[in-house]
Order: sequence, then C-alpha cells, then structure tokens
Amino acid sequence: MPLSQAEVAALQQRANEAAHNSYSPYSHFRVGAAVLLQPDQKQDGAIVGGTNVENASYRLTCCAEQAAIATAVTLYGPQIRIRAIAIVNLNGAACMPCGACRQTIFELSTPETAVFYPNERNETVSTTLAALLPDAFRITLSSHDS
Ligand code: THU
Repeated sequence: MPLSQAEVAALQQRANEAAHNSYSPYSHFRVGAAVLLQPDQKQDGAIVGGTNVENASYRLTCCAEQAAIATAVTLYGPQIRIRAIAIVNLNGAACMPCGACRQTIFELSTPETAVFYPNERNETVSTTLAALLPDAFRITLSSHDS
C-alpha cells in the first residue's frame, strides 16, 4: 500500500519532535528519525521516534535512526518491519542516512521500505532503502554450516 501524504507528514512530525531532544553537544547537529511500522499482532502501524545521542568518546555516538529502531524493537518486539523512515535535522542541512544506518535499517526493512530525508536544497527526497543500499550485507549460511 502506498504511503499517504498524511502518513509521511506524521512521520516527519515525529522525527522533528525527536530532534528537539537531540543530545549533540559536540557536533550541534540535531537529528531526528521516525519509523513507521508495518501493522502486526502487537501494533497497528505505530510511529516511533529517535534522536542522536553523542558521547565524548565520539565514535560511541548513537545516530537518530539507530535510536528509533532500537526503541521500536524495545516497544514492539523483534518481528517488527519498517514500512518507512524519515530523517530530519534542525540545522537546515541535508541529512541522508549514513552508511552504518543504512545497514541498520536494512536489518528490519523490506524491499519496499521508503526513506525520506532533506537534500542540500531542503527538498524532501523520497527513495527506497534498496536504492540507498543495494546488495546490503546479509548472512546466508551455506548448508555445510548448519
Ligand atoms: N547522525 C545521525 O544521527 N544520523 C546519520 O545518519 C548521520 C549522522 C548524527 C551523528 C552525530 O551526532 C551527528 O549526526 C553528526 O555526525
């Protein structure tokens, strides 16, 4: 089912709300993400937000997308699948998901998972995870290993 404009707007609104809670004292880059889940036994198309949480040991920083996905799994369980994800920032900058986040989204996505983010002209880019991360890493054990 294609996403409605209302669903996309709600997703961006939740991402924006999350960005206001950003803990980013080092970069001052305030990012928010929100995932729209496929309905399942535990929820009916929930939207879950997350924000970036930085650390003085910079590489320990948690991206907004990772925070949103970890929260969604925490709330609704390991069977969740991401129907769409929106990423925003409060700095008026382009904000495409980083490589690590693309792989994180892939883990719980489908081939159709939609991704929305602002580009350099502050236009909302609408794409798919498959376009952003073709041939993602996955573990497929051979029959010799099982
Ligand atoms: N950041 C995200 O939250 N998501 C991304 O996909 C890329 C970067 C955050 C991490 C860090 O707190 C700040 O943006 C600057 O890199």
